[in-house]
Amino acid sequence: MKIIFASAHDTDPHAWITPLQALLPDVEIQAWVDDGRAVGARIAVVWNPPRNIFMRETDIQAVFNLGAGVDALFRLPGLKDDVPVVRLEDAGMSAQMAEYAVYALVRASRQFDQYQSQQEQALWRPLPDIQREKWPVGVMGMGIMGARMAQVLAGLDYPVAGWSRSGKSLPGVQAFAGQAAFSDFLARTRVLINTLPLTSATSGILCRDTMRQLLPGAYIINVARGQHLVEEDLLALLASGHVQGATLDVFCQEPLPQNHPFWTHPGITITPHVAASSLREASITQVAKKINSYLRGDALTGVVERNRGY
Ligand code: NAP
Ligand code: GLV
Repeated sequence: MKIIFASAHDTDPHAWITPLQALLPDVEIQAWVDDGRAVGARIAVVWNPPRNIFMRETDIQAVFNLGAGVDALFRLPGLKDDVPVVRLEDAGMSAQMAEYAVYALVRASRQFDQYQSQQEQALWRPLPDIQREKWPVGVMGMGIMGARMAQVLAGLDYPVAGWSRSGKSLPGVQAFAGQAAFSDFLARTRVLINTLPLTSATSGILCRDTMRQLLPGAYIINVARGQHLVEEDLLALLASGHVQGATLDVFCQEPLPQNHPFWTHPGITITPHVAASSLREASITQVAKKINSYLRGDALTGVVERNRGY
């Protein structure tokens, strides 16, 4: 049994293959070679693999994704409809996501940018105390990432709501379910955090119509995928003042082009798709466990439902 390994996480694939091979002694793991030939792999372990992987390796029977989001895989030609695609579940990412959300929210709500500019002028001037009721947070997507984030922010006493298809309920977090509740969710939200998977139902969801329903002085935090956000709509709402700022980790085009207006916008903070990284050790341990279960014929968790796209 052969496994093909193709991941954009690291320039040295063997930093991943060697420890993975140690946990999977009965299979042979081969690194993808760009100009190589098919190795006859039955399993693919991938993150943002080359576009032709499934056209070359036509015997693939299961795909293990070294990340949470699987949207990029479904854009590749040759991935058969009946091949199970298994994603990473947490593996250390939800804590990173929660940290990122706390940083972006607290930086805005506690006016840390203003204190920084006061420091530059050696200015000792306390600003008005925080009023958390003025910073209601709405988390889109209440899966592994969104639920952890919502709980952490609710633990800091911000008013927090979560929106998802099923309306997952968590202590201290107001639940909103489905399209019918979307407008009510937006109308009570000032800080909108997106953790949705990218699917045909969620692409472009952060558009003018969505953002203008938020409370005035809105703040956008996008840690899911760039294609969720209509970039020119964000710029228009920032210009109008309805949206006061945004912290963005993901973009339609990555790396973000040098001449993109987001780079120099004073209201926008940019990070290069690092809100939650696939930590090597945790990812390898989880993927090896999943592959061993698959090889034994046991039930797997993290299998993507192909008709929903996540
Ligand atoms: P997940 O556990 O599958 O959770 C997805 C959530 O989105 C679920 O609550 C689901 O609702 C909800 N949802 C899906 N489609 C919806 C729709 N049309 N309307 C309303 N709610 C919808 O996924 P996850 O592990 O939290 O990861 C979420 C995403 O985060 C990934 O897909 C990836 O794009 C992104 N991510 C980014 C980074 C980064 O570094 N920037 C790192 C990791 C992940 P139900 O609960 O009702 O099913
Ligand atoms: C990162 O973006 C992931 O989906 O894991």
